[in-house]
Amino acid sequence: MNNRKPFIAGNWKMYKTAAESVETAKKLACLVSGVINVDVMIAPPFTALSHVYEAIKESSVMLGAQNLFWEKEGAYTGEISPGMIVSSGCRYVIIGHSERRQYFGETDQTVNKKIRSALNNGLVPVICIGETENERDAADTFNILDKQIKMGLEGFSPYDLEQMILAYEPVWAIGTGKTATSDQAQEVHRFLRNLIETLLGKKIAGSTRILYGGSVKPENIGELMSMPDIDGALVGGASLDAEKFASIINFKS
Ligand code: 13P
Repeated sequence: MNNRKPFIAGNWKMYKTAAESVETAKKLACLVSGVINVDVMIAPPFTALSHVYEAIKESSVMLGAQNLFWEKEGAYTGEISPGMIVSSGCRYVIIGHSERRQYFGETDQTVNKKIRSALNNGLVPVICIGETENERDAADTFNILDKQIKMGLEGFSPYDLEQMILAYEPVWAIGTGKTATSDQAQEVHRFLRNLIETLLGKKIAGSTRILYGGSVKPENIGELMSMPDIDGALVGGASLDAEKFASIINFKS
């Protein structure tokens, strides 16, 4: 047994207006009001953050942003600073999601800068990594993850990264309905924990929560959570519906 508290997060991506986000967040907060053994976070679009914060601030549901830009302020049209995110009520920020890497030019270097900026502003980074289908087929999964972790976390001390959360999201499993089997996911999570131990020591390796993401649903969460190195989930599609997401949060393993 370990003492890592499960962490289940909903990434709402580019779905829902502010009003729709508030409605879903309120419903969710009600549905999970009795849950004390799981940390719950939702990451609505930027435009909804402050509204959702007002709606859930008395509840146990926590708020995260889906991205940030590392500068404090400046002429960066369209970007959002860590300070703005904090002032919207967020404690968490998702960094390096594969959709940002794929469509918006995110690299391990920009991920590194964003992690630094999140930490400097007191935000907990939820750092996403994962291989594409071609990389898995070419038996390159572990090399890719090794590179993403080493470059993403370069220059940080164990102290800096005490709170970080990692999310393993195989790109081929995102939004495809194809979930990694629990054994496939466990194998990668174990690899990641060993890598963290090598880079940052046993203590951080033992306390870092590693989430799985990619077509997580009420039907597969129990089995995933029964694996020793899977500490939670980053849920896309199935988190958009409060009832479905609540039944993921109330998983039985
Ligand atoms: P889906 O759950 O829709 O596959 O998305 C996963 C994801 O990308 C969460 O960040």
